[in-house]
Amino acid sequence: MATSASSERAAEPCPLAVLISGGGSNLLAIEDACRRGQIPARIVLVLSDKPQATGLSRAAERGLNTLALPIESGESRSDHDDRLLRAIEASGARFVILAGYMRILSAAFVEALAGRLLNIHPSLLPRHKGLHTHRRVLEAGEVEHGATVHFVTVDLDGGPPILQAVIPVRPDDTEASLAMRVQRCEHVIYPTVVGWLASGRLACTGGQVILDGNRLPCAQVQRFEV
Ligand code: GRF
Repeated sequence: MATSASSERAAEPCPLAVLISGGGSNLLAIEDACRRGQIPARIVLVLSDKPQATGLSRAAERGLNTLALPIESGESRSDHDDRLLRAIEASGARFVILAGYMRILSAAFVEALAGRLLNIHPSLLPRHKGLHTHRRVLEAGEVEHGATVHFVTVDLDGGPPILQAVIPVRPDDTEASLAMRVQRCEHVIYPTVVGWLASGRLACTGGQVILDGNRLPCAQVQRFEV
């Protein structure tokens, strides 16, 4: 059967910008998934506020475009975020993936990227917003922990959740062991959600998460026995 040239051509991979401040293990997991063709995306820019971030050099070793935008002396949050936004828009990125980006973003930045901005947080949101999540889970004696991928809104760590990785907390767990096991799960769920977004299956409109045309009333859950 004759097929038109355009339908034979694979769809262009969706351009992504990834923002990091640290080791970049989630960035690398997403890049692996892109390179293996598991998700229809490509990373067009890796940005960091920390020029020494290990993730930035790891990204450069893989041939990705990298850019360090450290805070200049006396620069306001909104001026820095303006520079960030200009670099993102110039890169042609359609979606922006926060992967361990440790600065709080201004409302103007978040609003400019509404529906195009994802984050991963190392807890089962809405539990344990903010820092030191593994310690707080142990202190609270909780039996489950995990990570959440969510759309970013001006409500810090409070945007609509999409997918959560859930792991059991073991009696001998420490902050370090929890951090390691949670991160292993992050490396599975973050590429999954980025893939949904890049392939047009996922959107956020009016604060509602839509997956495959259906409203998600709460996060999807994936359980891991790691
Ligand atoms: C991850 O644990 C993520 O949950 C949090 O920051 C960490 C980033 O790790 N937002 P990496 O830089 O991707 O290794």
